[in-house]
Formats: sequence, C-alpha cells, structure tokens
Amino acid sequence: MCGIVGYEGNREACDILIEALKRLEYRGYDSAGIAIWDNGAIKVERRKGKVEELRKIVCDGTFRGQIGLAHTRWATHGVPSERNAHPHKAGNVVVVHNGIIENYMELKNRLKEKGQEFLSDTDTEVIPHLIIDHMNDGMNFIDAVRMTLKELKGSYALGILKEDERILIAARKESPLIVGIGDGEYFIASDAPAIINRTNKFIFLEDNDIVILQNNTLKLINIDGETVERAIQRVQWTDAMAEKGGYKHFMLKEIFEQPRAISDTLLGRIKEEEGEINFDEIALPDIRKIQKIWMVACGTSYHACMIGKHVFEANLRIPVETDIASEFRYRDPIISEDDLLIVVSQSGETADTIAAMKEGKRKGAFTLSICNVLGSTLARDADGVIFTHAGPEIGVASTKAFTTQVSVIFMLMLFMGKKLDILNNQDIRKHILEIKRIPHKLQTILEMAPSIEEAARKYMSCKDFLYLGRGIQFPTVLEGALKLKEISYIHAEAYAAGEMKHGPIALIDENMPIVFVSPNDQTYKKTCSNMEEVTARRGRIILITDDKNHEMSKRVDTLFVVPDTIYELQPILSMAPLQLFAYYIANFLGTDVDQPRNLAKSVTVE
Ligand code: AGP
Repeated sequence: MCGIVGYEGNREACDILIEALKRLEYRGYDSAGIAIWDNGAIKVERRKGKVEELRKIVCDGTFRGQIGLAHTRWATHGVPSERNAHPHKAGNVVVVHNGIIENYMELKNRLKEKGQEFLSDTDTEVIPHLIIDHMNDGMNFIDAVRMTLKELKGSYALGILKEDERILIAARKESPLIVGIGDGEYFIASDAPAIINRTNKFIFLEDNDIVILQNNTLKLINIDGETVERAIQRVQWTDAMAEKGGYKHFMLKEIFEQPRAISDTLLGRIKEEEGEINFDEIALPDIRKIQKIWMVACGTSYHACMIGKHVFEANLRIPVETDIASEFRYRDPIISEDDLLIVVSQSGETADTIAAMKEGKRKGAFTLSICNVLGSTLARDADGVIFTHAGPEIGVASTKAFTTQVSVIFMLMLFMGKKLDILNNQDIRKHILEIKRIPHKLQTILEMAPSIEEAARKYMSCKDFLYLGRGIQFPTVLEGALKLKEISYIHAEAYAAGEMKHGPIALIDENMPIVFVSPNDQTYKKTCSNMEEVTARRGRIILITDDKNHEMSKRVDTLFVVPDTIYELQPILSMAPLQLFAYYIANFLGTDVDQPRNLAKSVTVE
C-alpha cells in the first residue's frame, strides 16, 4: 500500500533514495517524504503529492548524508497531507512505515497520558513515540525497538533512524520488506523493482525479522533478540524488465510481454515427450483424498479463480467453490481437512487473501498459493506455492499476471488429472501441445493492436458499457470490464449473458456498447440469441470470437477474431483484445494508466 526505501553505504543517499522511491510509486502516491542522517543530525522533508514534488526540493545537493529512508504513501489513517506524510519523528527517532497498526489509538492515548505530543492523524506516529518511551525507561535503542514491535498489533514494514547514531533498522510483520545487498552498501525496499537496478541479491525478510545496518555491516535478529539466518537470493529480473522498455506505459509493456510471460511460466514444467507436468516445487497432499477445491482471491486474481472452477470441474470432476477473499475470511467457511485451498495473488501481499489463506490453514486445509512475487507472504506462508513467472508487474491494472495465472491453473489441472488417473500421458501431451501454441497465438492478437486502437477511438466517449459472456467467458468479461473501469474510469459492468433478459436488457440502447465474448463453443448459439436481442434494440455490439464466419459477424459494430484454442485456454486469447481495448480508451482519455486514481498495486491493508 505504501512504498519504503532505505540506504546505508558510502555514497550520497538522497538521489539513490528518490530514484528508488519513484520506482515504487505504483504502490501508493498521495504524499512522500525523506530523512537523511548526517553527522548526528537527521534532515526530514515531506510533501503532499507524488515523489516528483519531493525531488524538486531535496535533490539540490544540500541534502547530504550516506544513510537515509524515504517513503511514498497511500493513505489509510489520516488524509493525504504533508503532516501525515512519512517519515514521522519523535525525539531523536525517525520512522517510515507500511501497514496498519490496529491498536494505535490505545497506544497513543497511553503515550499522551505520559506527556508525549502527537502532530499527525496517522497510526504510524505511535511507533517513534513508543521507542522513545522505552528509551526513557532506560532501554537501549535496539531493545526499545524490539519491545515496541512486541506491542504493535497489525502489520508493519519499518525503516527506523536515530539521530545520535549512524544506524538504520528495518523490520517486518505481514507487510513486505526486502534487503538489497550491494557492494559495500545495503538497501531496504518494499519490493524488488525499487532497487533492481542497484543489485539482484536480496534477503526476503520474514515476519518478526529485524535488520540492523550499521557502518556497512548487516545483522539479522528476531523480535526476541536472537540471531536469525536468512538466505541471500538472486532475483533474475534485469533492470530493463522493471523499466518501460520503450512502451508509453508499464501496462502496455506488460500486455505485450504476455507471450514471453506465459512461455516463461511453462518453462521447466511441461514435458511434452513424456506427456507429464513437472511441479517439483509443490508437495500436494494425496490428491485422491481431496474432496473439494476452494479458490479464493481478490480482483483480477479472483477472476482467474472463476476460470479455474471451470477448468478443474470439467476435467477432474472435483467440486470447486470460488470466493472473494474479503467475503471468505468472514463467513466461517465449512472447510474439511481433505480440502485444497488455492489462493491466487500477483503480489502475494493482498491482506484479504493472506487472511483467507490463514483461515483455510486454521481449519486444516492444504493451502496452495499461485503467486508472482518470490519471497512474498503468500509465497512463503502457504503450504505450497506455484510461481507465475510473469516478471515484475508494475502497472496497477493486472494483465500478464492474469494470463499466467490461468496458465498455471491449466497445468495444475493436468498435473492433478494425471495423479488421479483421469488423464493419461497422451491426453496430457495433446494439452501440452496446445498450451505451447498459446504464446504464438497471443502474439498474432497483439499484432492486431492498431485495429483495436482504432476501434477504441470510436467508443472513447461512451459513458457506460455492458460486457456479456457465458460459461468460462463470464469471468473473462468480468475481467474485461474491470480493466476498462479501473483505468479509464468509465462505468462498465459484466454479466453472464444468460442474465441479460433478467434485468440488464433494460439498459440497452444506441448509446451503450455491448461487448460480447462468444467463441464457437457449447454456449455459442445461446449467445447469438442474446446478440439478436441486442441488435433489435439498436445496441452497438463489439464481438470477440474465434469464428471468422460467426453468424452475427456481419451485424456487429466491431469484430475482433482471435485464434481458436481449447475451451480452458480460450480466456487467455479473448482477454488480449479486451486489455488493449481498455488501454487505448484510457490512453485516449489521458488518464494515469499505470497509476489510476484511488488505486494501488497491492492492497496490503483490509
Ligand atoms: C486488477 O487489475 C487490480 N489491480 C486488482 O483487482 C488486483 O487484481 C487485486 O487487488 C488482487 O491483487 P493480487 O493479485 O496482488 O492479490
């Protein structure tokens, strides 16, 4: 939700921190601040607005020092303002924070009674005050930090400085934080893209880890003060991958990266000759005992779960229940120990999805996460994890994460089908051949981009859209509508096409474009009837289909023909024109495509 960066080394920290902070703006960007330690004094500057506002006033060579912290905020407690921006200072302690301190009011009241004064409305500000309070009681700085962390309820990723010592402390609980290992210098960051240009060697902190950076040395302890060992991992993301690569927006780059992202996700997992899927990275329980599969997530990842329901039920005949994570976690779901709970998440840090995973664990289910970020909470804390190898997804609107999630779900179905003796090697070889063709088929769709852009121009002034699809295309149109609304701010809603006559048909007139996804599958004829009903009411149809001879193709306003594939993989191909359509409309409208208003890339708070 917020972005944190820190530096401790032998170079000037200011420019390094501001540059790293700019790379984290996708995590939140309503205010920003920086603190630099230099010879026993800490200078702090904070500004409302984006990191650029801060850069203008600090990157003038006067902000000197070789150790510092910076923060970009997405407000949770306290409106976006300079006084609520981080870093927050109390006495000689400065703190930046990502997360939510749930018991902050209780702590704040207790500290106020002891005479401490607060300047902001944030939950974060209790942290430096609590540290000072413990030091006033005679504790040394590190013990005071540990005791403070023990009292905090909720989530935190922290960077802490102290005025009279050259020291930087970082700590995490439920909010992501990594340490970058440079050459004689250290970095801390909420996410790898912030510092991937500086190093590809990372320590992914775990809950209750505390890092102490002092005089170019790194020490790792836990909240009880015991030394902790953490592996240094190399992330194979180049800096270029985290940059825009010549595209106008990260989102467009990531749409065009999908063929490569899917190929990378398949790599090492499909054995075409043997007709096998290799998921060595997971040790599923005895699949024969699985009575029910749960698939739980938020947003785009939830739409991937809905597709998974079709994929698993159609092929494995195991009942699948999907749910939105924020609903699942509060409805006391009836989960048995023979259930498999699959949680899907690009960031691996979505608070509701993490809570859902914990709920499943608490009730004895085997939890499997499908995740894109190495070292993220869901990747680490689930019983098993399968990584989508989509590379960093910077655009707030999720694209390549979705199509790689669907690819993993398809491979997981094959893997489980083999274990259940439902699919034999020949079946799997046939399916492997088809999923191997998807990147190329997707590429042919992406080459249609200019015609999709032209079509988008025709519809950019429309105020409402209706997206309709049946079966596995219903979650596809849900995702297509989400793409449009979240980046163009145009109202778009999606319905199962069969529901059109149960209400939405009242909306249809010549002003409302209707997007149909209607490949030539088992529901094709029914969807054609829906389209007839729309044209009878002067509705303007945008049709995505794999049938160039679609019986309605001559009667629609706009037609996008995509290659055909098997039912379970069709959403990947149908999604590409929907992603581009939404992107080009938003681009024409001039919205902030990569950082749409009110949104953040990872919703790490409830
Ligand atoms: C999708 O474009 C949005 N960015 C949002 O719905 C996102 O999918 C959702 O917040 C879940 O995020 P996750 O996949 O990182 O858990």
